Amino acid sequence: MPLVVAVDGPAGSGKSSVSKEVARQLGYGFLDTGAAYRALAWHAEASGIDTDDAASVVSSLPSFAYRIGTDPAGYAVHVGEVDVTTAIREPHISAIVSRVAKVPEVRTHLIELFRGIMADERHPGIVVEGRDITTVVAPDAPVRILLTASEEVRIARRSAELVDVPAEYTGEQLRRRDEADAKVVDFMTAADGVTTVDSTELDFDQTVEAVIGVIRAAQ
Ligand code: C5P
Repeated sequence: MPLVVAVDGPAGSGKSSVSKEVARQLGYGFLDTGAAYRALAWHAEASGIDTDDAASVVSSLPSFAYRIGTDPAGYAVHVGEVDVTTAIREPHISAIVSRVAKVPEVRTHLIELFRGIMADERHPGIVVEGRDITTVVAPDAPVRILLTASEEVRIARRSAELVDVPAEYTGEQLRRRDEADAKVVDFMTAADGVTTVDSTELDFDQTVEAVIGVIRAAQ
């Protein structure tokens, strides 16, 4: 079993980009679990499924042929033969993803897939990031981190990524998504034994360094 580094945190905390870079520097695999929930939201939308109807979302699971890369360099997400790596980052997917993520059958289904990917021996370690990795998906992982940043900084970072979307819209959407997601799983407070890395005052490289520091300290 590869060494699992579990990283949780709210939207815009830099989890994905930081985790991917940490994985690259350590020669580890990288699993972005949010991308799987996003891919399912994309799949449901592409199949004409009402994402407010939990039963319809559940009925779409058997046809959800999702593939996610674990190599940080060649990272891509596919649904069937379609490369959805970019499409799943669109604001309209961010707006609906919490609806599919709150369905218990969806979570059970995806968590099983994640555990299969985590057990893949291809990499010496794997950085797995999301909302419930430190608490539900891999509570026994030897390294568990909560990556946080102030709401103001998170909105500013997300706005910088989405250059053609007004900052107020991004802020409103991020707040609404955190609120919806927090009803399903608590990712704002560190569970017992989880190390908090607050990146509010850190730039990208310093955050990567801080996370690698936590991993080294645990070895
Ligand atoms: O991390 P990201 O913002 O891409 O996640 C997209 C969505 O996927 C979250 O807003 C949340 O609804 C869901 N998610 C989840 N559990 C995870 C990862 C993501 O419910 N472990």
